[in-house]
Amino acid sequence: MRIFSGIQPTGRKHLGNHIGAIRQYVAGQDRGDPAIYCIVDLHATTVAYDPAELRARTYDTVATLMAAGLDPGRCLLFRQGDVPEHSELCWLLCSVTALGELNRMHQFRDKSLDRDLVSAGLLLYPVLQAADVLAYRAHEVPVGEDQREHLEVMRGIAQRFNARYGETLVVPEHRIPEVGARIMDLQDPTRKMSTSAASQEGTVYVLDEPEAIRKKFRRAVTDSGAEVRRGPDKAGISNLIDVLAAVTDSTPAAVEREYADARYGDFKTKVADAVTAHLAPIRERYADLRADEDALEAVFAAGAERASALAGETLADVREVMGVGPPRAHRRGRR
Ligand code: TRP
Repeated sequence: MRIFSGIQPTGRKHLGNHIGAIRQYVAGQDRGDPAIYCIVDLHATTVAYDPAELRARTYDTVATLMAAGLDPGRCLLFRQGDVPEHSELCWLLCSVTALGELNRMHQFRDKSLDRDLVSAGLLLYPVLQAADVLAYRAHEVPVGEDQREHLEVMRGIAQRFNARYGETLVVPEHRIPEVGARIMDLQDPTRKMSTSAASQEGTVYVLDEPEAIRKKFRRAVTDSGAEVRRGPDKAGISNLIDVLAAVTDSTPAAVEREYADARYGDFKTKVADAVTAHLAPIRERYADLRADEDALEAVFAAGAERASALAGETLADVREVMGVGPPRAHRRGRR
């Protein structure tokens, strides 16, 4: 089973990212053959950005992932921009991508609002994402709920490619976690926790100090009821139940049973303590890892070499069936 996922190089990962995605990556390491995790710096260039900042945030991200348990000895961890096959496959896949479909993507429409420049890169974002996964013939793509549409486009591209050029690519399946797929904002539990939320008070960051974490949970918005149980009218408490279940490797039902007689205040304290205990060791490891950029570059270099070897095989097949570049017989010794 080959697993692939891509991670945006935004430095500050929050609890939603951690529970929805990062924990799954860590668990995937021992199932994946291999588990491949890519920090997608090329995707980050599709909106206005600062180049020096991008490099720094990419280091922040790899250090966060390693601090959370990704081990370059047990998975393939690399930076997208180090492996040119991604860009090349993106272009080649454009031949089987429908413009209308890209135009209708929710993320494209959302991100196109209020921008000076709506780049073509923003439109092609899902094609590059498809290339990321298809280059490795990955079977499984662990992602958050928000990536459902991107995964559907990716599957469509792979199917259309195979139909047009013959069976070449693996059509991947997504894997969206049940518990904690949607961690909500602590101040507005009807919205997903996000870095771009109006207030930072509702967003718990992986690298937050314990005191900051406790404060955010203490102030978490809850409903007017009194029982610790899930329900459509109890968005705030439901979210806290999900958070506690996720960081203690439990289930929401078990959390409800355990806290059936608890009061909101005490329950919030429990959740805050559990989250703090879960994140504190990650924060400590992060500081050590982030301090050594040479070591992080060495991780990237080793990862890129392995990634390029795998992606290169797929690209050779793709070029061959598409009739692009020299035929296989003339390719000896060339990439
Ligand atoms: N678009 C994904 C996100 O915003 C990141 C991503 C890029 C990705 N390439 C990928 C995720 C390939 C899964 C597979 O989170």
